[in-house]
Amino acid sequence: MTGRVVVVGSANVDLVVDVPRHPHGGETVLGDRLRRSPGGKGANQAVAAAWAGSADTSFVGALGEDEAADLILVSLGGAGVGTDLVARVDAPTGTAFVTVDPEGENAIVVAPGANHLLRLGARQAERIAEADVVLAQLEIPLDVVTAAAGLRKPGALFVLNAAPSRDLPAELRAAIDLLVVNEHEAADLAGTPEALLDHVPAAVVTLGGDGCLVLQRAREPVRIKGIRVDVVDTTGAGDTFCGVLAAGLARGLDVAEAARLATAAGALAVTLPGAQTAVPSAEEVAVLAAGGTVS
Ligand code: RIB
Repeated sequence: MTGRVVVVGSANVDLVVDVPRHPHGGETVLGDRLRRSPGGKGANQAVAAAWAGSADTSFVGALGEDEAADLILVSLGGAGVGTDLVARVDAPTGTAFVTVDPEGENAIVVAPGANHLLRLGARQAERIAEADVVLAQLEIPLDVVTAAAGLRKPGALFVLNAAPSRDLPAELRAAIDLLVVNEHEAADLAGTPEALLDHVPAAVVTLGGDGCLVLQRAREPVRIKGIRVDVVDTTGAGDTFCGVLAAGLARGLDVAEAARLATAAGALAVTLPGAQTAVPSAEEVAVLAAGGTVS
């Protein structure tokens, strides 16, 4: 393992409003001022892999020819993510409408825009084939996710964060080395967390503030406890988890060790507003994972 991660996924500009509570259908709720920040599950995970996970990270995604794209490219570049494989397409950059309540809980609607035009060309395929870990999510076309999985080299891992929840085609399911889902996504896919192993060789089920559960065929489950923090905004915390998990695996850590670091990174991510803006540093992750405090 050389520590190379390729993230294939979405990038969005997040339009975020703090609200006293999330609106019901047909209801209008007055919120606070509008914030714009770089987001998208794919881009968030790439930033986390590079910044908090110290991996050599490239992002494969599609952006429009607009100012929102610049915001995302600056964030990716600032984290040290390779952006040479990002396509510019004839559609607006993806946009996510995010509301955050006083408990830090979010609700998100995504207008995919450019993300739906993502295709893999020869240069993208070549980089994916060099990766130790290929990490994808489900905000881009499923055939692109399946193709990315098929391009990984022997011995490399294909990690799928099956978010947002969608039915997985059999060919894609069969290609998964490690599945990362929350409890709701696990229920959608298999009923119970344990039943995920009927479909994939290994899974990590994230449990919000309660940590995560690591499941691997022919091994005892490992429960990693959550770390108590003051929650400001949960947006992107799962993405930080996935990025740091992938980075750890690419450095040769086993799934449970990588998940321990990812749990610490996810805990730190909820203490600040935004998605990519809340990704901690590798040093902060190491301190919290070792039982220290991060101010
Ligand atoms: O997981 C959080 C992300 O989901 C946000 O950044 C938003 O863009 C959506 O993709």
